[in-house]
Amino acid sequence: MPHPLLLAIETSCDDSAVALYEGDRLVQHLTSSQTIHAHYGGVIPEFAARQHLEALPILLRHLLSETGRALADIGAVAATIGPGLVGSLAVGLSYAKGIAVGRRIPLVGVDHLHAHVMAHFIEPPYPDFPFLNLLVSGGHTQLMLFRSPLDYRIIGRTRDDAVGEAFDKAAVMMQLGYPGGPAIDRLARTGNPHAFRFPIARMPGFDFSYSGLKTALKYLLRDHPDALDRPADLAASFQEAALRPLIQNLERAARQHRIRHIGIAGGVAANSRLRQMAETAARQHGWRIFFPAIEYCTDNAAMVGRAARFLLEAGRTTDLSVTPYSRTPQV
Ligand code: KG4
Ligand code: ZN
Repeated sequence: MPHPLLLAIETSCDDSAVALYEGDRLVQHLTSSQTIHAHYGGVIPEFAARQHLEALPILLRHLLSETGRALADIGAVAATIGPGLVGSLAVGLSYAKGIAVGRRIPLVGVDHLHAHVMAHFIEPPYPDFPFLNLLVSGGHTQLMLFRSPLDYRIIGRTRDDAVGEAFDKAAVMMQLGYPGGPAIDRLARTGNPHAFRFPIARMPGFDFSYSGLKTALKYLLRDHPDALDRPADLAASFQEAALRPLIQNLERAARQHRIRHIGIAGGVAANSRLRQMAETAARQHGWRIFFPAIEYCTDNAAMVGRAARFLLEAGRTTDLSVTPYSRTPQV
């Protein structure tokens, strides 16, 4: 008897994505990225929600036809419920609710940040529990301690901007377009990371802060606009100051909690310098380090489906009255 299929939907920001699981096996996943936001240097929430409305039925049709499955084969449907843009989340969640009601199948609501970490379990090798995860994306920067797939604690978080957001805002100031992370990463490869001095934030506990770095770049460009003539050096110096606290906090947290398995997930985990720094730290401290494949680092529905599989296994389905949330409740 084949496992029932699970359909997963992700619409927390500006990527519409769907995935299909058969048991714990990812069958296929598709993502449609919205390009309209690049014209504005950031995501316009109303455009994002409208584009999800348009994209989801098309993506689902492709997903089913590419895998030779029918809607009638789906036994459960999962959707991201937060944190994210509420309008965007509501589109994906309502779509999932419609399928759940129409097909009389369970709904599984998934937390977007939990899903980013569950990306480690899509393809082996998997980290052993307990492990520490550094989640670095456009919306979030946090350290999470996982005791099991569904049991985790946030032990450090950003006090202001997320690191991906800092990359994106810096790229706009450096006239590199949006999203800025990949552009800075590329440019920085040929730059000198010590060419410009940026402050490295030191926060209490395992927290992070990026507002000082953003302001430092703004003042540097105001007082020395010719810094833009050395884009690679500027990108490399900024990137070094943005990434250094991530590694420092990981090192301190791993030492304090005596953990050797370290995961790094989220869109900024695609950064080549971060990967290099983490691998150097891993050699120094005897860590094993885990990065999801890049297609599972940026927003995607495969990670949402993986998280939903763990929730379903634990019998944790979601009531149809669920509503989306924009931020993680602070405890
Ligand atoms: O996880 P993600 O796709 O969406 C959120 O949930 O935020 O992350 C997007 C973020 C953007 O800020 C983008 O600039 C950043 O990830 N990013 C990178 C790189 N690739 C994507 N940042 C630095 N270096 C990269 N190579
Ligand atoms: Zn994300």
